[in-house]
Amino acid sequence: MSNHIIINKKLDSFKKKIIVSPDKSISIRCILLASQAVGISRISNLLESEDVLNALKAIKNLGINYIKTKNIYKIYGYGLNGFNLKKNILINAGNSGTLARLILGLLVRSEHKIKLIGDKSLSKRDFSRVTEPLKQFGVNIKSKKNSLPLKIQGTNFLRPINYFEDKGSAQCKSTVMLAALNTPGITKIRAKKSRNHTEILFKNLNIPIKLKSKGEYDFINIKGLTQFKSFDYIVPGDISSSAFFIVLALLSKKSEIILNKINVNKSRIGIIKILNKMNAKIRFQNKRIYKGEETADIFIKSADKLRSLNCPPSLNSYAIDEFLVIFLVAAKAKGISTFKKLSELNKKESPRLNFAIKFLKMIGIKVKRNQDDIKIFGNPNLILTGNYIIKDFLKDHRIFMMSCIAALTFGGNWKIYDKDSINTSFPKFLNLLKNIGAKIN
Ligand code: S3P
Repeated sequence: MSNHIIINKKLDSFKKKIIVSPDKSISIRCILLASQAVGISRISNLLESEDVLNALKAIKNLGINYIKTKNIYKIYGYGLNGFNLKKNILINAGNSGTLARLILGLLVRSEHKIKLIGDKSLSKRDFSRVTEPLKQFGVNIKSKKNSLPLKIQGTNFLRPINYFEDKGSAQCKSTVMLAALNTPGITKIRAKKSRNHTEILFKNLNIPIKLKSKGEYDFINIKGLTQFKSFDYIVPGDISSSAFFIVLALLSKKSEIILNKINVNKSRIGIIKILNKMNAKIRFQNKRIYKGEETADIFIKSADKLRSLNCPPSLNSYAIDEFLVIFLVAAKAKGISTFKKLSELNKKESPRLNFAIKFLKMIGIKVKRNQDDIKIFGNPNLILTGNYIIKDFLKDHRIFMMSCIAALTFGGNWKIYDKDSINTSFPKFLNLLKNIGAKIN
């Protein structure tokens, strides 16, 4: 079966209510925390994508059982470090940086060596950002060139650390938070603000955590070795998957979309803030709080007068997974948009900043780069008629999906490879597009 798609027709006007995939960050965190809880946790509406299924396989390899009945995953936890470890355990994190990094935080007391591997994309990514703090806890980690594959062996002589996180990386922060669970004493973290699902879950589970915020930093103290009980959780919709439909509605003529029950936690809605600064008029309806997380339905309609923006870098980590589609909006806005300090964007499943610049130039948009800052010269009259091929992008799911949105909104004839990449985060993506009328072959 071919693994590419063809799009050669723009999407006509549409009005739809859609349910996007459940949140990936929360799904993975729920699985990892359930593996450390005492008792049976019940997680509903878990995202069934490769990254999350790999998280389930990983805890299974570590001796934690789970079963699925109806829409509920039951995970059988035996408390902190309650793994049942055999020798020669191999964990394959596939494409998921979040799984690979966070699970290391749970292995700090493992009695045997555990090997961690990933796919081609994950094997190119930096792991020193998490192995360095874990080594300070006393953990033994060996890797070549600070990347996967790596071997980790825990210790019973862990010591709490003072950790300073300055990239705005929720993965680094969360890895250290999970390591703190199994470490005696108080682990102290000062972290540049980033998505805070781990903090919210810790609070909900009554794990001893103290939180303070000052300027662009969060201060987090965690008292380790406190057992916590199993929990029930219903995973809300994913704003990062929603982003593709938000931009699709915004850039299509006479269209409206309502996205149902999406997590709109403040640390995730950078995209909404950025697009509204560009005159998008996106609204939240039916706001609710669920276990400390805000959810809402998101209402978007086509925008006719998008304007450029000077994007505040303080929003970068709150929109880090959405920049690819934000750049599409900047390409269509009136004026020059500026985005600064985007080095982290090149550390994702593929070097996304480099890709985005090539992509925008390919579709005739002027872009100027100065190290990690870019200026995008928008063209409100942008309409494409040429032929475009998108391939060799390390199967980065978000690059595949943003290319589909560009094809459906700007026009032209597109051949986009590696459609299987969507299975990592949003397996229903193409079906949802077809449901709203997209012609995709
Ligand atoms: C994630 C954090 C972000 C994000 C990733 C998911 C998480 O990565 O890009 O898709 O769930 O913690 P960084 O922490 O590397 O910025």
